Amino acid sequence: MKIIDLRSDTVTHPTEAMRRAMFEAEVGDDVFGEDPTVNRLEVMAAQKMGKEAALFTASGTMSNLIAVLTHTNHGNEIILGNGAHIFLNEVGGVAALGGVVTCIIPNDTNGQLSLDSIEKAIRGKNIHYPVTTLLCLENTHNRCGGAVLTPEYTSSAAQLAHQHGLKFHLDGARIFNASIALGVPVTELTKDVDSVSFCLSKGLSAPIGSLLCGNKEFIERARKRRKMLGGGMRQAGVIAAAGIVAMETMIDRLAEDHTNARRLADGLVRIPDIRLGQEKVMTNILMFDLARTFSSIQFLNKLTASGVKILSLGGNSFRAVTHRMVNAGDIDFALNKIEAACRELK
Ligand SMILES: Cc1ncc(COP(=O)(O)O)c(C=O)c1O
Repeated sequence: MKIIDLRSDTVTHPTEAMRRAMFEAEVGDDVFGEDPTVNRLEVMAAQKMGKEAALFTASGTMSNLIAVLTHTNHGNEIILGNGAHIFLNEVGGVAALGGVVTCIIPNDTNGQLSLDSIEKAIRGKNIHYPVTTLLCLENTHNRCGGAVLTPEYTSSAAQLAHQHGLKFHLDGARIFNASIALGVPVTELTKDVDSVSFCLSKGLSAPIGSLLCGNKEFIERARKRRKMLGGGMRQAGVIAAAGIVAMETMIDRLAEDHTNARRLADGLVRIPDIRLGQEKVMTNILMFDLARTFSSIQFLNKLTASGVKILSLGGNSFRAVTHRMVNAGDIDFALNKIEAACRELK
């Protein structure tokens, strides 16, 4: 049976070229800094992000955790949006392993935190308070339907953070989607942040990996934290090789995923039982809600049985993500099945 998997862009498989590069990769012991392929990937990543250095890690979660561990001390406070992946979906690692307090403020629908709310959340000097040391933002914003933070907003948030002595970490798991959607070089979105993480294994289709980028001194300390977390890998060139192909060949095509996401949204709004959960579809993620006339579980099961997978966000909310392994025809197929499921469940 044909399966259209719209749960996430993480379901993408490595391409032929990636598999070949993995097979042929020149390798060494990366804990000794001797894997030429990892070293090449880290140099490429740092250049792409406009930073001095980069660190290859196993996942976006690991990059974010290392960033927080490197920017903070135990007992510090960090500022996050209530929709932040670091807050919602990273197992509380920053609190459990970093010993930091999280100050959560509301994300607006654009994935932003208002500058006013950030400023109010920064602690003053007081014997009773933890010290606020880090602001974390996310671009594109997963929970806000792939919303994009602009260079102007990012610069203003950075200016505010730095003015108060905070560092600024950007969770840029899908930063290339943001750059493509806005039509600006990725460095415009990263130039003012102290660190940025991005993923190879989402829309870029590599099987594994993420990069944390920042200045040399930061990355040197981050490398030690990665080792502490058990993330020092040996002949990791085997996986870094796929990451190099991903960065060389998979960025520009993300525009297709954005077009397909808009195609999906245009079809969904024509189905009476569906309400889009966002005003604009800017990148490859879209949220929608089901009118409460039938059970969400039945809907999900029916859809899965007909070959279309989407992600439940709880209640009657769902997420669909476009990626390299679904084309415009697949989107139309999915729309037909969604429409049929709604019709048959009534
Ligand atoms: C915004 C964001 N940050 C971080 C991550 C974590 O990446 P990983 O699944 O590689 O740990 C994700 C994963 O979906 C994400 O959407």
